Amino acid sequence: MSRAAFDPARLGPAPGARVAVVGGCGGMGRALVQALVQTGVEVAVLDLPASLAQHRPPEGVWALEIDGSRADSVERAFGVLAARWPVLDGFVNLAGFFKGFEAIKDLPVEVFDEVIAGNLRTHYLCAKAALPLLRARGGGASLVCVASTMASDVVKRYAHYGAAKAGIVALVKGMARENAPAVRVNALAPGLTDTAFLVGGTGREQIFEGISEEVYAKRVPMKRMAQPIDMVGPILFLLGAASGFVNGETLIADGGVYVQ
Ligand SMILES: NC(=O)c1ccc[n+]([C@@H]2O[C@H](COP(=O)([O-])OP(=O)(O)OC[C@H]3O[C@@H](n4cnc5c(N)ncnc54)[C@H](O)[C@@H]3O)[C@@H](O)[C@H]2O)c1
Repeated sequence: MSRAAFDPARLGPAPGARVAVVGGCGGMGRALVQALVQTGVEVAVLDLPASLAQHRPPEGVWALEIDGSRADSVERAFGVLAARWPVLDGFVNLAGFFKGFEAIKDLPVEVFDEVIAGNLRTHYLCAKAALPLLRARGGGASLVCVASTMASDVVKRYAHYGAAKAGIVALVKGMARENAPAVRVNALAPGLTDTAFLVGGTGREQIFEGISEEVYAKRVPMKRMAQPIDMVGPILFLLGAASGFVNGETLIADGGVYVQ
């Protein structure tokens, strides 16, 4: 099979491509959706009702309610999506959140289950629903999951979140092998990024105070915290034909904090 043509001057999907984004109302999601719209891509945003109410997607973007951790909700939302868009060029899943700043010995089982469901189950359920639409393209489609550096560089009191994100990295490797050559499957692993995630998550209650950029920046070789836009280029690259031979990978974007 020959390589899909790509324009070296263009990072992301071609104009007119159809891309669905779960979590498109979040900090990284809004920056990504704006870039996709600006470059002529047709976008559908699937997100929690509270997040859609808080950050309505821009004009021209199709908004659909979903709770990616629930099988019935995913089936309903993807049923509506597929009825109008039976073929997808790209799919990005940004769903995720953090809760329960505890060592494993103190972590309640309900919080463990909620964090695994909100991060790992959402990626399994939504990928399962998106893959037939991506495969229907007949080649050249791309699925991008968002994991975290915490999948490999696990910090104290984040072990449950790290386990969920490591699960996403493993899911991506398996799905890449299962769906090649029709669909490439990759992940982005962001480092700490300045979004509502740091205080509890977009569409969710504020439960943390946040992290001081001044303090954190000292640990970062690039000497700053990431902004949402820092994640947009890597996701566009993984979505577009420029990364046509990258498959099953997790691309770290953390300013050099964690060097493998
Ligand atoms: N901000 C960071 O420091 C950081 C670092 C590493 C990884 N991440 C990951 O990046 C991704 C994007 O996070 P962000 O920083 O933009 O945070 P955010 O809270 O602003 O965005 C998260 C998005 O996911 C959506 N979401 C959450 N649970 C969902 C569910 N069950 N179903 C559907 N949608 C759901 C939210 O509504 C929101 O739109 C997340 O997966 C997060 O775990 C964030």
